[in-house]
Amino acid sequence: MTSGGDAPGMNAAIRAVVRACAYYDVQCIGFYRGYQGIIENDFVELLPRSVKNIINKGGTILKSARSGDFRTEEGRKKANENLKKNEVDAMVLIGGDGTFTGGLIFSEEFGFPVVGIPATIDNDIVGTQSTIGFDTALNTVVDAVDKIRDTASSHNRLFFVEVMGRDSGFIALNSGVGAGAEEILIPEEDNGLTKLLESLKRSKRSGKSSSIVIVAEGDKTGKNVFELADYVQEHMPEYNSRVTVLGHLQRGGSPSCFDRVLASRFGVKAVEYLLDGKKNFMVGFENNKISSTDISDIKKGTHDINRELLRISDILSI
Ligand code: F6P
Repeated sequence: MTSGGDAPGMNAAIRAVVRACAYYDVQCIGFYRGYQGIIENDFVELLPRSVKNIINKGGTILKSARSGDFRTEEGRKKANENLKKNEVDAMVLIGGDGTFTGGLIFSEEFGFPVVGIPATIDNDIVGTQSTIGFDTALNTVVDAVDKIRDTASSHNRLFFVEVMGRDSGFIALNSGVGAGAEEILIPEEDNGLTKLLESLKRSKRSGKSSSIVIVAEGDKTGKNVFELADYVQEHMPEYNSRVTVLGHLQRGGSPSCFDRVLASRFGVKAVEYLLDGKKNFMVGFENNKISSTDISDIKKGTHDINRELLRISDILSI
């Protein structure tokens, strides 16, 4: 099943799980709408040809949801009954930290084996350097910011571009460096409004006529990106500022080659680990290898952002 926010590459992961199952002679069914589909016993049998022509598609053919019912004991009991009824031996959960938290609770309550495949554009999961969808989202953001830069430079404007990342700055930091942003504001680093103003003024003095500031959705420098832009405009009337919120277009679209390969590797390895008797873990990508982390360790940790990238951005925005 796929659960939580959709991410480009989820379909490639479904395809890999289904085909690896067929390869090893394991029956595979797909539940719709994440945990909610299990509670409602809404599923489809998945055969190798059921997943044809989906490796290149964004979204998820199994649909996704954040199930409120699964948060209740009653909901989880119902899910367990349905899994038993359908003779399901193990579950592959494709999603983010919320999905894995649900999986951990469920595996503890019912002793049900689960394996997680990390898929979220936010990349905020412990136990993997990359999650499915992150690379595609970065390319989408960089492409959008390149276009915004045309207007910024033609009109001598200051643009604030809000990118996704409710609790984390991975998208902002990586796309900010990739798109050559002057400033990158992320929830993990609170430098305050004064530093932002100082640095924008320094840029202006050094001859820059336009600037792009990438703001992660979860950043708290201003109350929100609009108030932040108003504040800066007030203190830097010489600039003409604009705000662009990229929103959900960052979650859609055809997955990048990197995400397709990652999803394919995750899917096959998840099935192989399960067949080897491993349970309650998440597959990950570390040091160019597929790794596995106990699902209980994922909940505890936090995936740190790469501070080296902040330093690089500071140096390059001189
Ligand atoms: O997929 C995670 C995420 O992209 C967050 O960064 C964002 O805040 C959230 O999804 C919004 O998702 P939704 O609109 O589905 O609640």
